Amino acid sequence: MKKLYFGSNLKMYKGIKETKSYLQRLIDNTKDLNREEMEIFIIPSYTALSDAVKCIDEKLIRLGAQNMCWEDEGQFTGEISPRMLEELGINLVMIGHSERRHVFGEYDAEENRKVRAALNHGFKALLCVGETEEEKNYGIAEEVLRTQLKVGFYNVDAEKGKNLWVAYEPVWSIGVNGVPATSGYAENMHKIIKETLRDLFGLAGEEIPVLYGGSVNPQNAESLIVQPSIDGLFVGRCAWDADKFNALIRSAEKAYREKM
Ligand code: 13P
Repeated sequence: MKKLYFGSNLKMYKGIKETKSYLQRLIDNTKDLNREEMEIFIIPSYTALSDAVKCIDEKLIRLGAQNMCWEDEGQFTGEISPRMLEELGINLVMIGHSERRHVFGEYDAEENRKVRAALNHGFKALLCVGETEEEKNYGIAEEVLRTQLKVGFYNVDAEKGKNLWVAYEPVWSIGVNGVPATSGYAENMHKIIKETLRDLFGLAGEEIPVLYGGSVNPQNAESLIVQPSIDGLFVGRCAWDADKFNALIRSAEKAYREKM
């Protein structure tokens, strides 16, 4: 049976106090779930990270950062370096989230520098990929995913591939105006991603978890997680209440176990 991944990106929500109480509640709710079979991770705002590290048990919840600079230090005003994250005890960094790409203009070659820097520091790098609605309508979604993966993972060797995670988050499915992908559509795209990872890393590519994100909710979580090429769910809005996220994780896990 595959290991399942459930995570949430808190985006620019929740300050220090809210993040701490959210994490404490999520730990209480989920501490009985077997972490050999499941990984739960939360990606809070930068300002909450230092306090968040102190209030979690890292065996229960992994914490990540929402972005990172590729340089260790330098004249990069407003950026956060890998060394600063290391100092906090963070070992997971999300790279290339759709909002970074589409609101802040990040591009594939930049994501590649970040991925390589993250791996050089021994972090797990969670690369987000996904096509826009326009690209989907042009029928080039698959090409877009291949490009984002091939450039994003350019010059990454297979050995380091063990620290890679991928999130497929179609841009049109994310956020309040997003339309969730159907489980069939998501599965097809995950297959393309897995194929590309095999092309890039050989057998090691098969070990890279690929998560689906974009308007995951209690209604669609089960049908998504039971798809053979979907290894986990990366949730925004429907995970920001710890009780509701716990319920979503449990019902998805149950649906997956029953299907196996
Ligand atoms: P929503 O679940 O709110 O659509 O957000 C998904 C997301 O962006 C996770 O990174």
